[in-house]
Amino acid sequence: MTELKDNINKSKLPCHIAIIMDGNGRWARERGSHRIFGHQNGVTAVKESVEAAGELGVKYMTLFAFSKENWFRPQEEIDALMQLMISTINSETETLIKNNVRLLVIGDIQSLPVNIVKKLNEVIELTRENIRLTLVVALSYGARWEIADAAKRIAEDVNSGKLEKDAIDEKIFSEYLVTKNIPDPELLIRTSGEFRLSNFLLWQIAYSEMYFSPTLWPDFRKEDLYKAIIDFQKRERRFGKTSDQLKCE
Ligand code: IPE
Ligand code: IPE
Ligand code: MG
Repeated sequence: MTELKDNINKSKLPCHIAIIMDGNGRWARERGSHRIFGHQNGVTAVKESVEAAGELGVKYMTLFAFSKENWFRPQEEIDALMQLMISTINSETETLIKNNVRLLVIGDIQSLPVNIVKKLNEVIELTRENIRLTLVVALSYGARWEIADAAKRIAEDVNSGKLEKDAIDEKIFSEYLVTKNIPDPELLIRTSGEFRLSNFLLWQIAYSEMYFSPTLWPDFRKEDLYKAIIDFQKRERRFGKTSDQLKCE
């Protein structure tokens, strides 16, 4: 029997997959449990996705773990999420190292609790030279915050003479984003049947292919990732050109 994985064309893999991991609360509610139980079970889906990406040879995976807007959730849920973040980093560091995974974090890091920042920095440093897969975790991340912050720092550099106003173009602007040096995602996945972006990577996904899965995040498994990749590989990415033009290139 051919497995789903065998239908993936290894020569047409997306280099970067970004995921909006959504549906933990609903998953827990379906089981009559507290939302936090859903977040705890979401960790399995994170592990499966990262492992599958590494095995396939995907080079970058960005996971939306906590948004700027999520700070407005009940304090009890925020505290539990931060606690879960710490325990997951602690339990998974060894695996990241063993599997040659480099950890990066994007977002308004200063707004995170100091113990988390310290722990993250330790793991970022420990995995700095790993090359198989770069795992980018978006924490306290919001695209509008990111873009406004980039504009502010560009203005500062123009004022101080470090940057010429006329030199500002898309490439320079990108260098002021938190995703500097990270290629744009070719594939963006959102789970839980919601069809929105929720302020995620607005600049970077200008030409990403979107894949919406009805699966609630805690149920997301390697096969779900394979399905998304197979769907992605069936699409024609035209970047404004015509289909005929692409065939001639
Ligand atoms: C995603 O699941 C996890 C975070 C946003 C931290 P949710 O907590 O948003 O779950 P739903 O959308 O309420 O089901
Ligand atoms: C987006 O999910 C943020 C993360 C997955 C971390 P939300 O559940 O917060 O998004 P909305 O509020 O439904 O748009
Ligand atoms: Mg949600």
